[in-house]
Amino acid sequence: MRIFSGIQPTGHMHIGNYLGAGLQYLNYQNQGDFFLMVADLHALTVSQDPKQFSHETLQKIIELLAIGVDPAKCTLFVQSHIQEHSALAWIFNTLTPVGELERMTQYKDKANKQKENINAGLLDYPVLMAADILLYKTDVVPVGQDQVQHLELTRTIAKKFNGTYGKTFPEPKTMLVKEGAKIMSLINPKKKMSKSDPSNSYLALSDEPEIIKKKIAGSVTDKGREIRYDPAKKPGISNLLMIYALCAGQNIKTIEKKFQSKGYALFKKALTTLLSENLDPFRKKYKELEQREVYIKEILSKGNARAQRVATSTMEEVRQKMGLFTL
Ligand code: AMP
Ligand code: TRP
Repeated sequence: MRIFSGIQPTGHMHIGNYLGAGLQYLNYQNQGDFFLMVADLHALTVSQDPKQFSHETLQKIIELLAIGVDPAKCTLFVQSHIQEHSALAWIFNTLTPVGELERMTQYKDKANKQKENINAGLLDYPVLMAADILLYKTDVVPVGQDQVQHLELTRTIAKKFNGTYGKTFPEPKTMLVKEGAKIMSLINPKKKMSKSDPSNSYLALSDEPEIIKKKIAGSVTDKGREIRYDPAKKPGISNLLMIYALCAGQNIKTIEKKFQSKGYALFKKALTTLLSENLDPFRKKYKELEQREVYIKEILSKGNARAQRVATSTMEEVRQKMGLFTL
């Protein structure tokens, strides 16, 4: 089984990334041939500071290793190192109606957020994602809820290519966790937690205990004092309960019971302690890996070489099926 996923380099990996996608990476690296990529080309759809950008890419690799991604089991690489991603995206562009891209909710949201920079890449983003996935003839894609629509388009593009040029690509399945596929913002629990929002809205895996304490204390709760899981009526406390349950490895009902009639302050205190303890190994591993740049680069050059072999082979097949002239 071929498994593929990607994460953007910018911003710190947060608890939503970890619970929605990271835990799946750790599971899938033991289930099959897993390719995991840092999507630096996707990040360029938002303006980036060239002085920071390459550091952020390296940082994301370190974060992935620090959560437990094992380079012996998983092919880790950087998107822009494999030129075939862009080449295949161009070909898929010719099979994708613009209308389908304009319907994408993430495009609409982002276009709304950055009215001064509605670049063509923002619209084309899901096509590049389809290229990422199909280049490796992927069967399974573990992601969070926000990527579901993009994966539907990936399957549409695979079908269209197969129908036009002959069976080439599998139609990859979307894999979501049962609980935690959409962790919400700490300050606006109606919105998903996002690395690009202000830092008090997310809990970074690298946050030190005092920061965790501040962020949890400042997180939005709901009217009343009752600790009850009810995302419609009590979105704030429900989000915190979900985070608690997943981090403690217990179900939400058990946590609800444990804190019944205890009030928000006590619950928040317990959540702060739980998170500080759970994230301690991550912080240590991260600091250790930060000192080992040569080792990280070795992992990446191995990963890139393996990704390149698969990418070259798929692209040759695509060119031949499409009748692109080859010497
Ligand atoms: P990104 O940081 O946008 O590159 O996302 C990396 C992975 O984390 C993707 O699979 C996302 O779907 C997932 N993800 C991002 N934000 C959340 C969230 N708030 N809750 C659950 N999963 C998320
Ligand atoms: N767009 C994804 C995100 O922001 C990252 C990504 C890029 C990805 N290419 C991918 C995820 C391919 C899964 C498969 O989260």
